[in-house]
Amino acid sequence: MLQRIVKPLLVLALLALTQYSYATEGMWLPQLLSGLNEKEMKGMGMKISAADIYNINKGSLKDAIVSFGGFCTAEVISTQGLLLTNHHCGYGVIQKHSSLQNNFLENGFWAKTAVEELPNPGLFATFIVRIDDVTKAALQDVQPGMTEKERQSAIDKRLHEIRQNARKESWQETMIKPMFEGNQYFLFVTETYRDVRLVGAPPSSIGKFGSDTDNWVWPRHTGDFSMFRIYAGKDGRPAPYSKDNVPLKPKHALPISMKGVKQNDFTMVLGFPGRTNEYLPSEAVKQTVEVTDAAKVEMRDAALKIMDSYMRKDPQIKIQYAAKYASTANYWKKWMGEMQGVKQTNGIARKQQYEATYRQLLAGNPTWQQQYGGVLDSLNSLYRQIQPYAQTRDYYSELVGNVELFTVSDKLLNFLSDARQKGEGQYETLRSQFLESMAPFYQNYNATVDKDICVSLLALYAQGVPARFSGNEYNQIWQVSNKDSRALANQLYAASALTSMDKLKALLQQPLNAVVAQVWKDPAAGMAIALRNGFVENVSKPLNELQLGINKLQRTYMQAQIDVMGSKKRFYPDANSTLRVTYGKADGYTPRDGVRYDFYTYLDGVMEKYIPGDYEFDVPARLIELYKKKDYGQYGVNGKMPVCFIASNHTTGGNSGSPALNANGHLIGLNFDRTWEGTMSDINYDPSICRNIMVDIRYVLFIVDKFAGCTRLIDEMNLVKK
Ligand code: ARG
Ligand code: ASP
Repeated sequence: MLQRIVKPLLVLALLALTQYSYATEGMWLPQLLSGLNEKEMKGMGMKISAADIYNINKGSLKDAIVSFGGFCTAEVISTQGLLLTNHHCGYGVIQKHSSLQNNFLENGFWAKTAVEELPNPGLFATFIVRIDDVTKAALQDVQPGMTEKERQSAIDKRLHEIRQNARKESWQETMIKPMFEGNQYFLFVTETYRDVRLVGAPPSSIGKFGSDTDNWVWPRHTGDFSMFRIYAGKDGRPAPYSKDNVPLKPKHALPISMKGVKQNDFTMVLGFPGRTNEYLPSEAVKQTVEVTDAAKVEMRDAALKIMDSYMRKDPQIKIQYAAKYASTANYWKKWMGEMQGVKQTNGIARKQQYEATYRQLLAGNPTWQQQYGGVLDSLNSLYRQIQPYAQTRDYYSELVGNVELFTVSDKLLNFLSDARQKGEGQYETLRSQFLESMAPFYQNYNATVDKDICVSLLALYAQGVPARFSGNEYNQIWQVSNKDSRALANQLYAASALTSMDKLKALLQQPLNAVVAQVWKDPAAGMAIALRNGFVENVSKPLNELQLGINKLQRTYMQAQIDVMGSKKRFYPDANSTLRVTYGKADGYTPRDGVRYDFYTYLDGVMEKYIPGDYEFDVPARLIELYKKKDYGQYGVNGKMPVCFIASNHTTGGNSGSPALNANGHLIGLNFDRTWEGTMSDINYDPSICRNIMVDIRYVLFIVDKFAGCTRLIDEMNLVKK
């Protein structure tokens, strides 16, 4: 956009730009930096060029960044394919390698030699080789009057062709992603390595220090990292696991800066952010925070309180529910932060102001009028229409997601329909597979806890969902129980065969037909079916239709915003799990009146939070010893050990494990979270309170070297000291 503006206007335009976008907002496509961002980045202190970040002719920063298993980011930090990511990204893998005798989650794990590095079937690391704009080819058959379905199939046909004809090596893959709500399409040529081995992880008392209490919170003191290594075939290309594979020789490995970060220093984060919605109308933002977030928070609030009360009383339940609690709490807390942040920064009023300007400019231009007139109003109207359906969807999914008796009912019903399709002959095998898959679930299941959750959530569901949406079957059950969720739950849990592994086994001992007959009569399965039928019959269809309409109008509104507001704002595509660059400055913030947060934390803060024996705030003896002796080796500064820092980089879920780089493109930290007040950055970025949280790279190295003694890893890195 900027390139088209003639010179004298540039200054004015740049001034105007600051009105609706902030220097640090945005998740930018790496191949477009030179046109859109390079100048600003240099102005903020960057010393390298856009071509050092993304280059298809020689190794550049992007060649050190991988999508880690599709859910996190990781980066190459040595010429031997050593990968750095978060502890919470490696968590599942570390857990899988753990046993009671060798509890790597609790004690940490360090491969002393290459031979001890542990393979992980299913885990992969994907590099981005090249990104091409294929919009023209993708959209060439699209005609104005097409329905959404016709449009999509016309596009899909072309996308198939584009992928077929894409220039690439035989071992590479392609992927096409829509950007700007489907106004643009980009082709990604990728290289995926599937032999990714676990190299090291600190104990959870470092890697998950502060656990749920500190999650989304600043000041933070977590050493949230783990290390892996990419192995390749002898030719350096992707190869399935083999003991003959060799460490990958990457096109680029990140040099590691030992210099730390100062206030207002330029920082940059490269990674794979998952999903954002930055271009919603104010109506939708309002709905998100006031209606749907609120419904989800209400349901999870109740579930979490119950889990917590049992976990505090019973150590067995504490172990069983720790992981469930953490995953339920993660987004519960995020949504609360989002609700609060939008309110605190007047997010809705500011969006409305933006829309007023948009409407004004639109009104003054007949071409735009013709193209986009009425789009925003129609979109708002659809959002108002979808509201009760969207709210019900969230009540429904939180109910069946948090009451495990319903979750397991759905699993059993799916298994039975699969078994009936495949026939009696295969039942024996399918049954043992199913039972085996359910064993870990029941190991962590407590029917008393689950029943209490059910009592609470059924009551909230009944309050939140209009009778016309919940369906006759459910309404009947609810009437018969006199709208008493305690009485209803008592009955469900007393009579159901799904409340324990033993009962489930006994049920499945019978021949298939008998099982089916009994499950039809099982009250828990019956309730799950009634809930599902109510949802499918009364909500899914209108919800999906409205959503399709919204998608179409969001696409038009997106293009309208780009055209109409292009002189006042720079546009970046919403996150969609593709490689992005975001940049900002190291800085603290004011979370509320009278409080100012600094941007750095130190090991002293770990010791301040230390609670001996606590499951969140215990500290390993070895770390205390190093702290007491101030034995920080080359990693400390002025007798202190830096731990975490924050900056105004615009990140989201999926950016975990992303490298934080300095002005020279050297690694200074590892991204792992955002501050609570700023989690609304997914729908409303505001530089005053949106901060990403990173572990200082020197803390990572200190733990690897001084704490764990795994110096062989330090030796393969390139440490930049001056
Ligand atoms: N809030 C961080 C991110 O979404 C970290 C989550 C993992 N840590 C935890 N304590 N649950 O996803
Ligand atoms: N913790 C998130 C992740 O796991 C990052 C974030 O949401 O800021 O990707």
